[in-house]
Amino acid sequence: MPSIRKRVAVAGAAAIALTTTIAMTTAHAVTPPRAGAAGPVAAPADTTYTAAEVLAGVKKNSTAANQVNTKPHINTMTRAMNVNVYQVASGVYAYTSSMAIDDDGSDPDPDPDHQGDTTWHDSNGKALAAHHVPFYVLGDDCWDRKTPCPHFFYKEHGMSGRQFALMFYNGKVIGSIFGDTQTANNQTTSDNDSRELGEASVKAAQLLGIPSSGTTGGVDNGVTVVMFSGPSWVVNGTNANLNANAQALVQKALNTLGAAMAGTNPPPTGTLFEAESGTLSAGGTFDSNHTGFTGTGFANPANAVGAYVDIPVTADTAGTRTLTFRYSDGTTAARPATISVNGTSHGTLNFPVTANWDTWANVSITVPLKAGTNTIRIAGTTAAGDANIDSVTVSP
Ligand code: GCU
Repeated sequence: MPSIRKRVAVAGAAAIALTTTIAMTTAHAVTPPRAGAAGPVAAPADTTYTAAEVLAGVKKNSTAANQVNTKPHINTMTRAMNVNVYQVASGVYAYTSSMAIDDDGSDPDPDPDHQGDTTWHDSNGKALAAHHVPFYVLGDDCWDRKTPCPHFFYKEHGMSGRQFALMFYNGKVIGSIFGDTQTANNQTTSDNDSRELGEASVKAAQLLGIPSSGTTGGVDNGVTVVMFSGPSWVVNGTNANLNANAQALVQKALNTLGAAMAGTNPPPTGTLFEAESGTLSAGGTFDSNHTGFTGTGFANPANAVGAYVDIPVTADTAGTRTLTFRYSDGTTAARPATISVNGTSHGTLNFPVTANWDTWANVSITVPLKAGTNTIRIAGTTAAGDANIDSVTVSP
């Protein structure tokens, strides 16, 4: 059911206690995402990310290159045509706008424009309760009547009802679900239309410390909504527990998005040897000018055929081991390299490109090691030399 936002005095909506919001603190930086990939982000990494880190990454990735819409959306409160939607990681979409207050649904509300239904329902088929469930509002249809839609249209992005989002405002983050839609083109009762972005439920406003009256509440700017597409991010539950179920996903969502934006492919389990403990052929350097490395830096071998880094690794006993190289290649061409152990070549690995020099990937090869110290040489086979090499992990 399309929502209509109008302002009329509302009494008594303020007394609902705030549930937990996660305070924003800072620690490590979040670096740019892989570009271009489609589909929902992968399983969460173990790393814990704070709300401040993730919001910083979202802002950093809200670039023209990542913009999804080609025509601007309308800020629901100010009516300014200046809201855009960005794919900040694979399958994750973010915008920053106002929060107008939607009081529709099964909770009673004195707003004369209150509608008893919401577009999406709880798992029992009941209209959502705007005073109990934090939900956000998206356009009901493609205003332009085009495919692909020049505006962000949820149906084109793997989203449906109760799709999870993180909402950030003024140092807080909450979980929220896609609950209602903004007036379709055929609605003539208000000046609203489906290009609007920037509306959420009474409960979402309360949790974020925003005035929550459906007629006098809201905030004009500064609310960032980060929507997670795909069926695994649809939140189930009833009006009684959808809020708790959404909040229970907040840290998982922060970790998942934080890891996706950092391009972290952590080294596998095993014994890790840092490239910076090794030696380089002429012209190579150990650098730390890109993010995401382990240890104190990474090897940047020279750009020349045969340029190499030698990394000493130890083994308790002789035997076959898997070597996994963590590397980055921010160019547009792979950097194949020959892998040698104690002077004997064991073949060439391709080292495919990564999204940028801050994004790390893993490639593996199985080789024989002797007991004690072994020298692993990674030697580029092209004039570009090696990729940047962060580490080698030895596993059984
Ligand atoms: C860039 C990048 C280096 C990289 C080099 C290369 O200069 O900053 O880290 O090693 O390209 O092409 O090898």
